[in-house]
Amino acid sequence: MQKFSREENPPCRDFLDILFTAKDKDRFTLTLEEIKDEVTTFMFAGYETVTSITSWALYSVAEHPDIQSRVHEELDSVLNDSDHADITWCGS
Ligand code: HEM
Repeated sequence: MQKFSREENPPCRDFLDILFTAKDKDRFTLTLEEIKDEVTTFMFAGYETVTSITSWALYSVAEHPDIQSRVHEELDSVLNDSDHADITWCGS
């Protein structure tokens, strides 16, 4: 698995980095309560939507083997037999 280090990827800012450093037009940062509220919203908005769409997509692909084959071929062509070490993320 690819290791990620914040020191080696300074331009990569995660959700909490953004919340902790965000400033409004008067250069005020978010309070800890506001940061907690944002995290709660993202947790709720993020997990059930993703589980629903992932379950539906996997079920749908299982119901249509022809499409499943095409997805498989596309993954093979994109991943190109790699061990995934060269997949990058966060703009790196
Ligand atoms: C397939 C996955 C997702 C779907 C289908 C989806 C769908 C939606 C939809 C339709 C809205 C608009 C709701 C409205 O205005 O009535 C929305 C809002 C939002 N979504 Fe997602 N979403 C997905 C994934 C995520 C993830 C992964 C996150 C965060 C990690 C997220 C965070 C949010 C937030 C913060 C809002 C705005 C909530 C608000 O303040 O009104 N969503 N999403």
